[in-house]
Amino acid sequence: MNTTEPLPGQTNLTILLVGSGGREHALAWKLAQSPRCERLYVASGNAGTAAWNVDIALDDFIGLADFALEKGVDLTVVGPEGPLCDGIVDCFLERGLRIFGPGRAAAQLEGSKAFAKDLMRLAGIPTADYRVFDDRAEVLAYLAEHGAPVVVKADGLAAGKGAVVAMTLEEAVEAVERIMGGGFGAAGKRVVVEEYLVGQEVSFFCLCDGQTALPLMAAQDHKRLLDYDEGPNTGGMGAYGPPAFWHKALEDEIMSSVANPTLRAMAEAGVPFVGVLFIGLILTEAGPKVLEYNVRFGDPETQVLMVMLASDLVTLLEAGAEGSLDKMDLSWHPGSAVCVVMASAGYPEGSTKGVPVVVPAVPADGMKAVFHAATAYVGGDDDGGVCGGGVVNGGGVVSSGGRVLGVTARGATLAQARGEAYALVEGIEFPGACYRKDIGSKGLPV
Ligand code: AMP
Ligand code: GLY
Repeated sequence: MNTTEPLPGQTNLTILLVGSGGREHALAWKLAQSPRCERLYVASGNAGTAAWNVDIALDDFIGLADFALEKGVDLTVVGPEGPLCDGIVDCFLERGLRIFGPGRAAAQLEGSKAFAKDLMRLAGIPTADYRVFDDRAEVLAYLAEHGAPVVVKADGLAAGKGAVVAMTLEEAVEAVERIMGGGFGAAGKRVVVEEYLVGQEVSFFCLCDGQTALPLMAAQDHKRLLDYDEGPNTGGMGAYGPPAFWHKALEDEIMSSVANPTLRAMAEAGVPFVGVLFIGLILTEAGPKVLEYNVRFGDPETQVLMVMLASDLVTLLEAGAEGSLDKMDLSWHPGSAVCVVMASAGYPEGSTKGVPVVVPAVPADGMKAVFHAATAYVGGDDDGGVCGGGVVNGGGVVSSGGRVLGVTARGATLAQARGEAYALVEGIEFPGACYRKDIGSKGLPV
């Protein structure tokens, strides 16, 4: 039985989703399919979520909480790490509002690499060896002694740009100078120097309620700009899942060596973790090792997860907020899914904005979706947030930043999912768009 099916007596919910990227469009798309989603609001959303948007900034916690109280919001869900690390959950809970996500203290798992590393060391969770430095001279002396390859990271949040994999000592020194030189603000006051790990990288997601970690799915992000993992790092140029090398025994191993000990250690430290635990891993020859934690859904991995998830997302997130994940049982669609990110010309250094984007209508069969990220809607109706709305197709949409669309498809096989996703890409009018042609190809049989 799928325990996320609505049961008699369960009430329907008014939901507020906070965020405005591709991940949030994918979450909104899935939430809106739930018979338990009475009403959906997205703050502040993008052109893809226009049917549900409310114009309140992500950092305006008081404004968001006032809105939630006024509209009788039953559950708030937060997409990005910024509001979580800044305490949106604490603010909502203080006002008696139900919200799914970690409070400020627990969000340090993502917000401070040093906090995460210390927790892993304490709990015996496998991760790269590391040292934390507050002093520039000390870190430079350490690097001179240990040499490269090595990984240098800013301690705080740096929008994915705070980690440098240095293959030479010169690159490592340059990274320290850049991070500690002031360009990263408070996030660069401390650096973490890590052992360089080699292996397949994977993103693994669990829903957590403080006690129970419920494994969702794994997916592989494609962080480099260009095909075959060339070019600069980006926010993510596409994802596919589940990865070809993923299997139940590996998931069980990661649950028992990483996810469950993380939850126990957080509870013992007095900061039980509620929310999405995103474990970034490298599968080394010596077993899976944690690269980093994030305290939220991944982007673009969520686009893949949402088209693969068969269970009711409203019931799952409600159980996360209520502490009843131990009673949940998940079901997934068979096959694989692929998300191809279409980005603006010039991404990631800059991006050409205001380019018209025309997306043909996509059948509402749950097999594919064109998720919007940095898009704006110029003109048209807003139907006021009633569930059942969806992707805004056709004219009126313009690009408004780097990653613009997440073109996503599911198939019985990875090859079929790739075929469908790239066929959709071909039908989209987006002059100057850049995208990778090899998303998911790593998972194809050779
Ligand atoms: P992070 O900001 O920690 O997610 O790191 C960004 C990227 O740098 C990761 O996705 C990896 O590809 C790479 N990376 C981070 N830490 C290591 C490590 N210890 N060894 C090898 N690669 C790493
Ligand atoms: N896809 C990586 C992230 O969301 O941080």
